[in-house]
Amino acid sequence: MTERGTHAPEFAPNLEAAWEMLQTQGWVLISDKNRDLGLDPSFRPYVLKHYFNKRGLLQPETYDVKPYDRLRARDVVKFNWRNLDEPLTEDDSTTIAPKDYSSQARTYKRTELVHDKRFNRWLEAQSMLMPGVSHHPTIEENPIHIGVNLFRTFTDVVNSPHRDSTGFVSVFVVDKHGEGATSELYREGSQTPFLRHPLQPGQELVFDDTQFLHSATPLIPASDGKAHRDTIICTYDFHRWPDPAYQNILTKLNLDTPRN
Ligand SMILES: [Fe+2]
Repeated sequence: MTERGTHAPEFAPNLEAAWEMLQTQGWVLISDKNRDLGLDPSFRPYVLKHYFNKRGLLQPETYDVKPYDRLRARDVVKFNWRNLDEPLTEDDSTTIAPKDYSSQARTYKRTELVHDKRFNRWLEAQSMLMPGVSHHPTIEENPIHIGVNLFRTFTDVVNSPHRDSTGFVSVFVVDKHGEGATSELYREGSQTPFLRHPLQPGQELVFDDTQFLHSATPLIPASDGKAHRDTIICTYDFHRWPDPAYQNILTKLNLDTPRN
């Protein structure tokens, strides 16, 4: 399904094409049906059953963050792409750094994901989508810190176009009931999104957070009056917060204060 007046965006046919698209246009759409990307279509029903529908795992936001009715679970893992044989490991902290001086750091209870073989494998495949250190050559020796967020939304998906202040972001739709929730990408300074696509279950949008702002339209309830959208949203940080040694890199990359 595509938005009226827009062309259906192309999905990457394989990993090399995904890298190429991320490096040249800064975003890519992929599908979990495409095994050439290393993704497994059976992961979606697995994660739905064991994480999204597990009682008590998704929790209401404990901080003043919109949308207020959103549920979340979170982990942060490290991926060392200089040594692909090295397994993913837990990061020390699940804290999300403040975006500016007026906001606060947010620390969430960890939902352990790295010890789940299937989740671990999925995260490794996700990490392999990153288009290589050529994009951020100054930090090639550092592991990627991946913030893994499981969200269930019911009304608004996000508040407004924004950046996550990270390297790349991936939005994978696990389940959706209702319509709307069209993902949007904006170029800096533009009020009009250049990409609009209502991601369906199994579809994923990966984009360069340093180039674009992202948003999504509100969910529209189905004929039964209900709506929900389950997503796994990962942020791929190429720097470490709050280690001051990385501040020079952030300045060079012209990034804001990093967030996971
Ligand atoms: Fe975001």
